[in-house]
Amino acid sequence: MASRVRNQLQALKKVYPWISTPLIISAPMRVFAGPALAVAVTKAGGIGFIGPGASPPDLDIALTESRRLLEQSSASSHSSMQPVGIGLQTFDADLGIAIQAIREHKPYAVWLFAPRDGQSELNTWVQSVKDSSPETQIWIQVGSVMDALSAARAPIPPDVLVIQGSDAGGHGLARGAGFISILPEVADELRDTNILLMAAGGIADGRGVAAALSLGAAGAVMGTRFLASEEAKIPRGYQEDVLKTSDGSQNTIRTKLYDELAGRTDWPSMYDGRNIRNRSTQDQESGLSFAENEKLYKKALTKGNDGWGENGRLTAYVGAGVGLVREVTAACTIVTTTTTSIITTTLDASKMASKTAHPDKKEIEDRTEKLRLAYNKRDIDGALAMFVDEGLNCSAYSISRKSYPNMNKARFEEFLLTMHSKLKHYRHNTISVSGHKEFQAWEWEMVWEEYKKVGQGDSSDGQGVDGQEDSSDAGGATSDIAVETVAGEDIAVEPRKRRRN
Ligand SMILES: Cc1cc2nc3c(=O)[nH]c(=O)nc-3n(C[C@H](O)[C@H](O)[C@H](O)COP(=O)(O)O)c2cc1C
Repeated sequence: MASRVRNQLQALKKVYPWISTPLIISAPMRVFAGPALAVAVTKAGGIGFIGPGASPPDLDIALTESRRLLEQSSASSHSSMQPVGIGLQTFDADLGIAIQAIREHKPYAVWLFAPRDGQSELNTWVQSVKDSSPETQIWIQVGSVMDALSAARAPIPPDVLVIQGSDAGGHGLARGAGFISILPEVADELRDTNILLMAAGGIADGRGVAAALSLGAAGAVMGTRFLASEEAKIPRGYQEDVLKTSDGSQNTIRTKLYDELAGRTDWPSMYDGRNIRNRSTQDQESGLSFAENEKLYKKALTKGNDGWGENGRLTAYVGAGVGLVREVTAACTIVTTTTTSIITTTLDASKMASKTAHPDKKEIEDRTEKLRLAYNKRDIDGALAMFVDEGLNCSAYSISRKSYPNMNKARFEEFLLTMHSKLKHYRHNTISVSGHKEFQAWEWEMVWEEYKKVGQGDSSDGQGVDGQEDSSDAGGATSDIAVETVAGEDIAVEPRKRRRN
């Protein structure tokens, strides 16, 4: 299975040249996942999807905006296609309007979900998308083995099937199961096809992604985790509820109640949605009439952010993994911290496997030990050799002088040079330099050039020093990267903070 997925991933990298693996995908969350989020995820080496808007014409506006954002970065240079995807719920989307936007903006992928009339409705959409933009890849999100097989046997099978488990936030099949059960069954059934599987539902960190990969998924979709990103278009009250809610088993619920309260009676009957339990659900459970509940819900709508919170009544779609979401960060940080922790998780898992029944026990033990040593020694060359030369193609690298207390300036420079020469071939990985500051590898060229300029003629005292995390904005210059040397010893390289007027 692993080699099948590996081959498929290689093929995927040909189609989506900017991606790095393990592959993280941000879900097309209706209204909440706009162009800023999708572009940020793509720039971090994932695949960002724009969610359906409040009304069909919003799609054209969103794709115009994502093109503008992409043109500001070198992530746009791959082809005339836009390196983002779009999500459409076919039961309420407008085919004509959507196809016009797809023809004009050419997103890399179109994600279809929730047909009212099953596979025949999806077939119409797939044919129309392919007619308008043949290179656009087709992703279909399904919640059962049966629907996965219907899609796979269609006249035009999808390139990707997203297997949505019942832990997922937002809408999904009311009769469902976790992806841990259905994904491997689909993988077995489709073993002779080229259809890639992605897992969705309850994944909020590297451990979930590692689990998905071990079941046969080629990548992991996260929705709820990205609700707590700086780029999500989400009301503050809702986002605070996401951060506060723990134990999704008790504090989230699958229900149709919130659709009914919002007057959304058009959802096909087999769907409901997973939300945070709040006063609306509690009142329903304690027997309050729907009419009374609706009245209170409508009142809460007038309260803005206070409609959520302790006595909240408003809808807050989240997955059962919401308890793992504890802070709001930039989307690129979510991608890189997740992929970095996948490596640790798989390392632990492979250690366990090597202690039990793995046939290549010795090889795994050697490999694990080598990687552990590289980590412990903070030996970047060793780690790079593991990650880059051995083809793991890790998506996140971190360089911090704090982590290398014994390294003098000359060695630090050598270190940067090694990164530069190795990573120029891996332009879509993420590098963080000196603490928490992160770059995409495609920015590395700029970082290095700036570093060379500023660093030239700078004398070193040869002493090991702590990294500097708060290098100030050099002001006035238009570059996106600031490089600063302090008293000839500290070196901090960081993305320039945008000047606020
Ligand atoms: C707020 C929210 C809105 C969503 N909207 C959509 C949507 O418009 N279309 C869609 O295909 N999936 C939608 N989903 C479901 C996601 O595609 C995905 O299955 C889900 O987010 C994965 O589970 P997770 O939230 O636990 O990561 C939504 C999910 C959330 C949380």
